[in-house]
Amino acid sequence: MNILVTGGAGFIGSHLVERLLVEGHRVICLDNFDDFYDPALKRRNLTRALQDPKFRLVEGDLRDEGILNKIFGEEKLAIVAHLAARAGVRPSIQNPLLYADVNIRGTLNLLEACKKHGVSRFIFASSSSVYGNNPKVPFAEDDPVDNPISPYAATKKAGELICHTYHHLYGFHIACLRYFTVYGPRQRPEMAIHQFTRLIHQGKKVSLFGDGSSRRDYTYIDDAIEGTMGALTREHGYEIYNIGESQTISLTELHRAIEERVGEKALLEYLPAQPGDVERTYADIRKAGDRLGYRPKIKIPEGLDRFVRWYLDERNK
Ligand SMILES: NC(=O)c1ccc[n+]([C@@H]2O[C@H](COP(=O)([O-])OP(=O)(O)OC[C@H]3O[C@@H](n4cnc5c(N)ncnc54)[C@H](O)[C@@H]3O)[C@@H](O)[C@H]2O)c1
Repeated sequence: MNILVTGGAGFIGSHLVERLLVEGHRVICLDNFDDFYDPALKRRNLTRALQDPKFRLVEGDLRDEGILNKIFGEEKLAIVAHLAARAGVRPSIQNPLLYADVNIRGTLNLLEACKKHGVSRFIFASSSSVYGNNPKVPFAEDDPVDNPISPYAATKKAGELICHTYHHLYGFHIACLRYFTVYGPRQRPEMAIHQFTRLIHQGKKVSLFGDGSSRRDYTYIDDAIEGTMGALTREHGYEIYNIGESQTISLTELHRAIEERVGEKALLEYLPAQPGDVERTYADIRKAGDRLGYRPKIKIPEGLDRFVRWYLDERNK
């Protein structure tokens, strides 16, 4: 099949691209290499994919109708996996208009291209952040998600809604995947696990926001890709799936676990909790298990072993 992966040079996208190539698909990656973090890292993410003749890289912006028309006109696409976005909660508070433009208008632009060119299978990368500070855990797909606490979360919820509209009006098959903090090799450098590892390794000060008791359900990248593949290979109507591990760890436990693996003590600085950060995330993954055959395998101790090993290997290169 011909599959378009938007944001295919990013962390999750580049892993998905590689997996699809291994499965024998032709993969078109649309990415604008934005400056949210060093674009050189994104180019590196594609090193392996670029050696595969079934891979095509299109450098361009999701919001550019001309580029989308060109891709959809030239490629007979079967599925679109839409992962491109401005990610990150805190920067979305600084720049909400940009987040809305990329995450909402960009998504709409892509759905319009799908409609125009008759592509009706679509995966949308949503986020656990849509659950906000919901008191009930674990978070389930049919819980209310009307109280986002950051512009980023609101744009992801808006993306889910606009996807539903295209399902209703045009019969698109759409799976919205609510990823729960994904980590592993190539993780975005500003995300907690990557940042803690780097700062502890470099002997620099690590800022912890809040009292260290906030908890996260961290999802290892291989599991996130398994869940994504499960969604890609099925027709859904319109469905939302949690993609998490259904296990949580506190911030304090996390930095201790990273200290152990790096073999250095962290120089900690406690700062007030940040606006927009949720207190906890915790995924109910029964629906993805039942419908997608999703069975996450990598628990946090093993995932952290793998991540720190990857980080140290990269530093030694
Ligand atoms: N990593 C996580 O823990 C996590 C959790 C929940 C949801 N998500 C979502 O999953 C997706 C992938 O996240 P990631 O961590 O790999 O982020 P990432 O920043 O590494 O990847 C996003 C990619 O999209 C590209 N991009 C951004 N704006 C674009 C535009 N206008 N046109 C074309 N390309 C554009 C970026 O250059 C980047 O390569 C995002 O939609 C994100 O919101 C990620």
